[in-house]
Amino acid sequence: MAEARLPQGITGLHVLPADHHRGPWESMVVPDSLRERLLGTALLVLRHAPALAQLSGPPHGLVLLSGPPGTGKSTLCQGLAQEAALALSTRGATTLVEVDPHSFPSELLGESQRAISRLFSDTLPEIAARRPHTVVIIDEVEAFAVRRSAASFEANPVDVHRATDAVLAGLDLLRGTSPRVLVLCTSNFPAGIDEAFLSRSDLVVHTELPDLPALTAIIRSTMAEVAVLWPGIRPLASDSALHEELAAITLGIDGRRARKLALHALSVRPELALDPELLVRDDLVRAAKEIVTW
Ligand SMILES: Nc1ncnc2c1ncn2[C@@H]1O[C@H](COP(=O)(O)OP(=O)(O)OP(=O)(O)O)[C@@H](O)[C@H]1O
Ligand SMILES: [Mg+2]
Repeated sequence: MAEARLPQGITGLHVLPADHHRGPWESMVVPDSLRERLLGTALLVLRHAPALAQLSGPPHGLVLLSGPPGTGKSTLCQGLAQEAALALSTRGATTLVEVDPHSFPSELLGESQRAISRLFSDTLPEIAARRPHTVVIIDEVEAFAVRRSAASFEANPVDVHRATDAVLAGLDLLRGTSPRVLVLCTSNFPAGIDEAFLSRSDLVVHTELPDLPALTAIIRSTMAEVAVLWPGIRPLASDSALHEELAAITLGIDGRRARKLALHALSVRPELALDPELLVRDDLVRAAKEIVTW
């Protein structure tokens, strides 16, 4: 369920668990250990953060997923929010908040700093008070947690430094006011993220380009989805040797591009685009050879 009239910087507000948020978690081809670690960190914070606040080194409720584009960072965040909400549902619902770090103006000196401070001091605590658990997703966090040591004062306005300071102060404040808030951040430019932000993270996960078995599994699952739409494709969708061959050709591409392979194959010939059930093995091999040259 989406909620209307969103405050500044917030692009989405949802109540979880929700049926239409099912799917991303299961569809991701990642090691089970990664899935368990993410879920474990989320549950520890959402369930026990008030008690853990008494420790000398309490959690910050901050998780960073970093890795190349198209390796599933945003999808994992969305899936994790739903999965954690499901596990905690007997204790109450979870609010999912999507923050767009690009939506804080930086033209005016001090303006982004004030807007970011408001986000952490007013908006997020207000939203967090609505339900027992809150998951905040900040996609492309490097847009506002810019590494201050690398941002030269000549090339970057003082405002950049102030904005990063505001994020760090905001995270510390949020930890005190709203402990059961989990902040999930993604970045495909980890070198640009401030050191003090990294130091506050409870978990940093590096997503990788899929290896041969992972690529094979992504291709197999995409083919299976396409075969649901056009059952005539089923023999190709269950041909494991073909999936392995396609994965060997495309090794080195990211998961997003791998998901596009079947689509790309369906558009190699106009008659095939009109009737996808005409798809043959050679169309897929041709598409695979093309897609690696992009
Ligand atoms: N390991 C994977 N297993 C299955 N699907 C994957 C995998 N990696 C990426 N995908 C698919 O690729 C698409 C893009 O993923 P997503 O948007 O989560 O990537 P991202 O890492 O956030 O990329 P970006 O850095 O460009 O924002 C999704 O449809 C996702 O399902
Ligand atoms: Mg993303």
